[in-house]
Amino acid sequence: MTDSPKAPQWDHLLQAAIEAREKSYSPYSHYKVGAALLTTKGKIYTGCNIENAAYTPSNCAERTAFFKAVSEGERDFAAIAVVTSNGGAPCGVCRQVMREFAPNLTVIIGDIKGNYQVVSLNDLLPHSFGPENLEIL
Ligand code: THU
Repeated sequence: MTDSPKAPQWDHLLQAAIEAREKSYSPYSHYKVGAALLTTKGKIYTGCNIENAAYTPSNCAERTAFFKAVSEGERDFAAIAVVTSNGGAPCGVCRQVMREFAPNLTVIIGDIKGNYQVVSLNDLLPHSFGPENLEIL
């Protein structure tokens, strides 16, 4: 785990997540989340949380970024930056979505003051279930 100050290689990704967070549609929780997903080829897909009056259809920022990227044909990911007001970590559902495509993904968890920590998805979701567990593969 790495703490502040910001390492230069994550600066750009964190900034993209901070900007994505501004697009958050969160009139119910008022908890804005931004994500920026980096492919192994260097392209960035951003996402924000999108809430809904019926609550359960809400989508997290990380999954918005992943679904945007995967729906554009991306499959190989290097890192994701997630920014909140207070450095909240990705939820369990998002961890499982990340794990499908990138079991060793680097996850940068930041706040709006510029503090951040770098963890591996392996540490966030140990002993995980993945595609290789399905006998059809
Ligand atoms: N949220 C995210 O966008 N990502 C997470 O990993 C945790 C939670 C959102 C969902 C909801 O819009 C708000 O934060 C409060 O839970």
